[in-house]
Amino acid sequence: MLSGKSILITGGTGSFGRAFIRTILDKYQHINRLVVYSRDELKQFEMRQTFTESELPKLRFFIGDVRDKERLKRAMERVDIVVHAAALKQVPACEYNPFEAVKTNVIGAQNVIEAAIDQGVKKVVALSTDKAAAPINLYGATKLTSDKLFVSANNFKGKSEIKFSVVRYGNVMGSRGSVIPLFLKKRNERVLPITDERMTRFNITLNEGVELVLFALAHMWGGEIFVPKIPSYRLVDVARAIAPGCELKFIGIRPGEKLHEEMITATDALSTLEFEKYFVILPSTRLWDVDRYMEVFNGKRCSNGFSYSSKTNTDWLTVEQLRHLIREHVDPDFKVEETSVSDEKKRSLKIKGPDENPKEILAVSESGGQDSKPV
Ligand SMILES: NC(=O)c1ccc[n+]([C@@H]2O[C@H](COP(=O)([O-])OP(=O)(O)OC[C@H]3O[C@@H](n4cnc5c(N)ncnc54)[C@H](OP(=O)(O)O)[C@@H]3O)[C@@H](O)[C@H]2O)c1
Repeated sequence: MLSGKSILITGGTGSFGRAFIRTILDKYQHINRLVVYSRDELKQFEMRQTFTESELPKLRFFIGDVRDKERLKRAMERVDIVVHAAALKQVPACEYNPFEAVKTNVIGAQNVIEAAIDQGVKKVVALSTDKAAAPINLYGATKLTSDKLFVSANNFKGKSEIKFSVVRYGNVMGSRGSVIPLFLKKRNERVLPITDERMTRFNITLNEGVELVLFALAHMWGGEIFVPKIPSYRLVDVARAIAPGCELKFIGIRPGEKLHEEMITATDALSTLEFEKYFVILPSTRLWDVDRYMEVFNGKRCSNGFSYSSKTNTDWLTVEQLRHLIREHVDPDFKVEETSVSDEKKRSLKIKGPDENPKEILAVSESGGQDSKPV
């Protein structure tokens, strides 16, 4: 599928971009050219050091901003495929710098679309997030707008053969600023801050995200939002997995956060197809026959009242599975440490939370008969 092709990845120095490029170099020996497009020269310099002499001739490093359409056009010369991963993605940063979030995530998306059409690119896949489904924060709202721009782009591409699709998924395990690195760091302090006992999230590994984008590139008809079937976890289980001896301090849900994430809302589900390992939210303007699409990929319509939420998911990660995944994808040296909190303290300790109401600190204990010895 990628033999002889040139691929540009915006945000190529980010977590996804680096994993994507590594996978392509390892799996597709006959790739023509891989173009990394991002702003920071240091990240590009450091990334360059990770490749072998034989890999470097296939790589190009373009300094550029997705806000700059002319630069994108230059970078996309003779490019066949674009993967759009560049984004501002920290929820608080987007709330605090709203115009910057709009410029990068929305205007940047428009620029990628227009440059790709102008340069005769054949396929574009843009990365989205569960936070774009029924968004409550600006990050999610800008990504939803971006999704809509990419889906709609299929309608105004003119005679060009280009196809645009979107891939939407949840928390990437161990990504920068996420809960697992935070808990791993905080466990030495013996108290883990948790927003809410009920909180759940979807989980995907970086490699699964890369494979999903490759799958979309191979199968897209244009206008789909691909949503993978992935497991959920409870935040308290992540704490149990990482530090069974630590206390949990419930700090309350933060502005812009949801208790549970959704990838397909009940309304989206009305125009969503289900396949064995994924869903496809259909574009509202169809350029192809949906019945034929279902037949080709062996899909069916979602059942009445369906929505895909991290709360109602049927697939859950256990504490043991979380530990295994942390070792495999975040920290190969990860070990569970002995508990240091006395049972007496676990039962009785209370503290004041930020709102000055007494908040209970619950010690996290192993459930399901597992012990808390180092493993
Ligand atoms: N990580 C997750 O948990 C997660 C979950 C769901 C979806 N996603 C989506 O996946 C995509 C990739 O995320 P990631 O985790 O790889 O992010 P990341 O590690 O923060 O990387 C972001 C990349 O975008 C580049 N970038 C940022 N602003 C740019 C701009 N204006 N112009 C050009 N490049 C720019 C950054 O490099 P410079 O700073 O050098 O420009 C960097 O290469 C994003 O679209 C995100 O919304 C992520």
